[in-house]
Amino acid sequence: MGHHKERWEERYSEDNIPWDLGKPYKQLVDYVNENSPSRALDVGCGTGTDAIYLAQNGFNVSAIDISEEATKIAKTRAQKAEVSIDFRVDNVLDMPFEDGTFEFTHDNGCFHSFEGSSSEESNWKTYVKEMHRVMKPKARYLMKCFSEEPSNPHRLSQETIRQYFSGNFNILYMRPVTIKGKHGNHEGYSCLMERK
Ligand SMILES: C[S@@+](CC[C@H](N)C(=O)[O-])C[C@H]1O[C@@H](n2cnc3c(N)ncnc32)[C@H](O)[C@@H]1O
Repeated sequence: MGHHKERWEERYSEDNIPWDLGKPYKQLVDYVNENSPSRALDVGCGTGTDAIYLAQNGFNVSAIDISEEATKIAKTRAQKAEVSIDFRVDNVLDMPFEDGTFEFTHDNGCFHSFEGSSSEESNWKTYVKEMHRVMKPKARYLMKCFSEEPSNPHRLSQETIRQYFSGNFNILYMRPVTIKGKHGNHEGYSCLMERK
């Protein structure tokens, strides 16, 4: 995990982070409009855009990211936005939360980032086990990830998503979406699931 963490620290020391658009994306906004605020977790929260949006809408938010640099930026942004968020610099594969804590969990671009690493399969299995552990039964999980499009930096098929999640989650929807970025757009999936 050492190398993995360093890579993210390097990314966040760059000025122009391609995915960091500073505003929440459509499927998260839709979720917030259609559901009551609850105890929420944002995994791989980056500079905090989505976590701050959830907190601004009444969610009680914890947010975890492996990058100290990203979390520093996120904390400053949350302060400016005058919201209180429980930020943790930690690993989504071994989370510092009690079993059954969360009613809503969210991932914008973390799950797909394990694709292509030598430990991809075990990381994905551990990720799903950890998410399942920290969620309450019937809690909801919203994820946005890249699709299998060859030009994407990471590639995930609907079949792969099903393969890893369907043992522990009921998939409520899996929709093709365009993921906007500063240097161009990518094809992806937005998935809403319910913890079994
Ligand atoms: C593509 S970025 C997306 C960041 C943020 N969700 C957003 O939409 O702006 C993926 C994030 O996952 C974080 N990350 C990667 N592996 C992680 C791990 N094992 N544990 C916690 N965070 C991780 C990275 O540091 C990075 O901030």
